[in-house]
Amino acid sequence: MKMNDYIKLVNDKLDEFIQIEIPQTLFKSMKYTVTLPGKRLRPVMCLETCKMLGGEIEDAIPTACAIEMLHAQTLIHDDLPCMDNDDYRRGKLTNHKVFGEAIAVLAGDALLTFAPQIISKFSDNLPPSTKIRVLNEYFNYAGARGVIAGQVVDIESENNPGIIDKEKTLEYLHLHKTSDLFQLAMRTGAIIANADDEKLDAVTEFAKDFGLAFQIADDILDEISTFEEMGKTMGKDKQENKLTYVSLYGLEQAKCKLSCQLNKCRDIMQKHNFSSEIFNEIIEQISQRAGI
Ligand code: IPE
Ligand code: IPE
Ligand code: MG
Ligand code: MG
Ligand code: MG
Repeated sequence: MKMNDYIKLVNDKLDEFIQIEIPQTLFKSMKYTVTLPGKRLRPVMCLETCKMLGGEIEDAIPTACAIEMLHAQTLIHDDLPCMDNDDYRRGKLTNHKVFGEAIAVLAGDALLTFAPQIISKFSDNLPPSTKIRVLNEYFNYAGARGVIAGQVVDIESENNPGIIDKEKTLEYLHLHKTSDLFQLAMRTGAIIANADDEKLDAVTEFAKDFGLAFQIADDILDEISTFEEMGKTMGKDKQENKLTYVSLYGLEQAKCKLSCQLNKCRDIMQKHNFSSEIFNEIIEQISQRAGI
C-alpha cells in the first residue's frame, strides 16, 4: 500500500469509529481534532510495521486508529492555555477555541478511555492474549510512565534556569512526550503480527530513535517553517522559552543531531533486513522538511 492509501484507510475508519452520540458537544469536540487533517504518521507506522513483519493490516486497524485518537488527545491538551496556549492546530482553530476550555479538557479525557475501547470492541480477530498485550502497551505509553511524564517535564522545563543537567532532561522529555507514541504504534503493529522478541526489540529501538528525530525536526521547524506549511503558530518555543534542541544546541547543531538520529534509523532498518518503502519515504520527508 502507498502512503495515500494508508491515510485514506485510516481517515475512513476514524470517521466510522467516532459517531456523534449524546452529549453531542462532547462527541463533536472529540471528533473535531481527530478528523482534522493530520499526517497520520503513527497509525500508518503501526499498520506498516504489522505488514512488514508478516501480519494482516486489517487486524491492526482498530489499534492504529486508537493510537491516532490518543495522539489527538495529547494535542488537544497540549494546546490548552495552561499548557502551550496555542490557537491553531492542523490549520484550524484549536479545540478549546472552538468548544471552550472545559469541553476541550473533557474531550481529551474522553478520548483517552474511548480509544482503548475501540481496540477491545473491534479486534475480535485477535487472540485474547494478543488483545491484552496490545491494551497493556496502550496504558503503559499513554500514562504516567509515558507521554504524560514527558509533557510534565516539558512544562516544568519551560522558562526554568534551575535545571542541573539540561541535555539529559531534554532527551528525557523528548523521548517521552514524542517517542513513546511512536514506540506504542510500532510495538503494537509488531505484536499483532506475532513478531518474535528480537524483531520487537528492533522496532522498539527504531521507534525510539525515530521519535527523537521527529521531535528534533519539530523543534527545528518551529524556528524555520511557516503557518501555511505546519498549520500551527510558529516561533512559539522561543517565545515561551521552551527547552528544545534548538534552544539548547542552536539551529545548526540541532540539524546535525537530527541527521545523526535519522542515520541511526536507516542503520536499524538495514541491520534487521526490514524492507519498507513507507519508512524510507517518511525518513526522507523529515530530512527534506527540516532542510538537512
Ligand atoms: C505533533 O505531531 C506533535 C509532536 C509530537 C511534534 P504531528 O506533527 O505528527 O502532528 P499531526 O498529527 O500531523 O497534526
Ligand atoms: C508535543 O510537543 C508533544 C505532544 C503533544 C505530546 P510540542 O508542544 O512541541 O508539539 P506542537 O509543536 O505543539 O505540535
Ligand atoms: Mg508542548
Ligand atoms: Mg505544543
Ligand atoms: Mg513543537
